[in-house]
Amino acid sequence: MTQHALDAIHALDAPDAPVTRDVQYGTAVASVYDSLIAPALPAEATVVRLRPHVTGARVLEIGVGTGRVALPVAAIAAQVVGLDNSRPMLEALRAKTVPGNVSLVRADFREPLPVTGPFDAAYSTMGSLACVADRDELTAALAHVRAVLAPGATLSLEYYATGTYRPLVAQHTVTLPTPHHGGTTTFTITLDDADVLTMGTRIDADGEPPVEFSERVLLIERDEVETCLRRAGFTVEHVYAAQSPQPYDWYTARAAR
Ligand SMILES: C[S@@+](CC[C@H](N)C(=O)[O-])C[C@H]1O[C@@H](n2cnc3c(N)ncnc32)[C@H](O)[C@@H]1O
Repeated sequence: MTQHALDAIHALDAPDAPVTRDVQYGTAVASVYDSLIAPALPAEATVVRLRPHVTGARVLEIGVGTGRVALPVAAIAAQVVGLDNSRPMLEALRAKTVPGNVSLVRADFREPLPVTGPFDAAYSTMGSLACVADRDELTAALAHVRAVLAPGATLSLEYYATGTYRPLVAQHTVTLPTPHHGGTTTFTITLDDADVLTMGTRIDADGEPPVEFSERVLLIERDEVETCLRRAGFTVEHVYAAQSPQPYDWYTARAAR
């Protein structure tokens, strides 16, 4: 990579890039993400799946969050650019020891991505790209990713599995022991006519004030996700369907040549 390209990436590693649209992940979710949410889905299995695509590669993560996956990926990739629109999530990541081959960009994937391609591979885990209002917005976001990929580069995508989430909608409210902690986590799940799933989370731990936050994601069937991928300029190579209660299907797609 040229020095010019490296300079361009590091210039983007700034906390105050303008983000003008709504941001879903605020301080409440960022405050508990690493202690209460990330442990439920250890990164190791994800990295095993990503390894063939990211080893030695220049890689883009869309919705990098607190770096649950980006940090272990950085150990095997040449370079990782992590993009996210949430300042609190990126601040939590920046507070860690971030390796020199990781750059962070605060930006919204619903807009063209302010990163310098081409990347050899991209990935998006835990359904980050599902944070869209409808199928057209998902297709546009995927096209923004496609635009910075080299022809033939792979996109690995974890997307919400309808087989797991539709039964939760039917239950509406689910209370579970919080994994690895005392107390409980209560999910309140609704699905509207536009297929937007709203999942409210309330974490109650002994002697502490409750932590509450809410996520909205587009819940669509696998064939519809594949259609959005194709419309955005990808060829779908594999779909690994989640076995309930696994939360996400896994798609491997390739940027059309
Ligand atoms: C469930 S977290 C996943 C974080 C990380 N990929 C992981 O696996 O732990 C979803 C992430 O997507 C980010 N996100 C949601 N909507 C976004 C958008 N429009 N643009 C950029 N990032 C977005 C959130 O801020 C959050 O950090």
